[in-house]
Amino acid sequence: RFEKLWTAAALLLIVGLIATVTYGTVGAGVKMVDDSGGTVDAGSLGDTEFGDPGVTQVGENQYEVHVVARQFLFQPGTTSPIRVPANSEVTFYITSADVVHGFEVAGTNINVMVIPGQVAEITVRFDDPGQYGIVCHEYCGAGHHTMAGQLVVV
Ligand code: CUA
Repeated sequence: RFEKLWTAAALLLIVGLIATVTYGTVGAGVKMVDDSGGTVDAGSLGDTEFGDPGVTQVGENQYEVHVVARQFLFQPGTTSPIRVPANSEVTFYITSADVVHGFEVAGTNINVMVIPGQVAEITVRFDDPGQYGIVCHEYCGAGHHTMAGQLVVV
């Protein structure tokens, strides 16, 4: 008699488990937006915030910086430095247009892998003016050792 009850309970548990797993997958899918540490279509970055990357002020002392890494430069960063004001909180969103790169800002705790199709997100406070070197720390091809840039806090 109790066997039926246990079978029913076990079935309920299994259904619940499947529902949880399914919900988790759907939940993760919802997070796939183009600029919040989620994913992005590397083939059509032009249709996202990465189409015109750079510094955007989003609050009194808050800034967002979208950066595209590609063989073998950071845009912005390499041909023109990334410029942010001192006493600010800056969130970097970084993605790759081609292969895996790295984004390391020497002298800060910014050190992320940059993977095509994914958006690396990191928030940093800059209290004082200064200049920082940006380097790619993942081997990305023949020009890897030349892939560098600059971040200027003014
Ligand atoms: Cu990009 Cu190494």
